[in-house]
Amino acid sequence: MSSISDFNNSANVVTDGEHEVQLSLLAALCQAVREGRDVEAVTLNLGQLRSYSEAHFASEELLMRMKSYDDYAAHVQDHEHMLDAFQEIATNHSLGNSALIAGKVEDVLGFIQQHIATRDRHFAEMVRSPI
Ligand SMILES: [Fe+2]
Repeated sequence: MSSISDFNNSANVVTDGEHEVQLSLLAALCQAVREGRDVEAVTLNLGQLRSYSEAHFASEELLMRMKSYDDYAAHVQDHEHMLDAFQEIATNHSLGNSALIAGKVEDVLGFIQQHIATRDRHFAEMVRSPI
């Protein structure tokens, strides 16, 4: 029979794995943009990143609600900022403004790395700590 502690530990492992996938999808998008790859390749990378991020954020937000996390609102604001940035990249991409995309994807990469290192880490520590 599993305990709350087992659940909390496995939740952290799953979330860490999701962060790795998210960062690798974003790195692939950065590389595709840097290399000036064709519209279809960038569209595919961006679509995968957006879909995965939406699912990841939804699961993280559900876990925060289950834990009555006190930094929930600010954390969700970060997620919304990232989804807005993806939308902005998609809009510029569809308009052919590739010069604007390159800087924006690097900005988002920095923002996500910072988010994972601070807000996500803080939440993970709260989940790990005994009740
Ligand atoms: Fe997060």
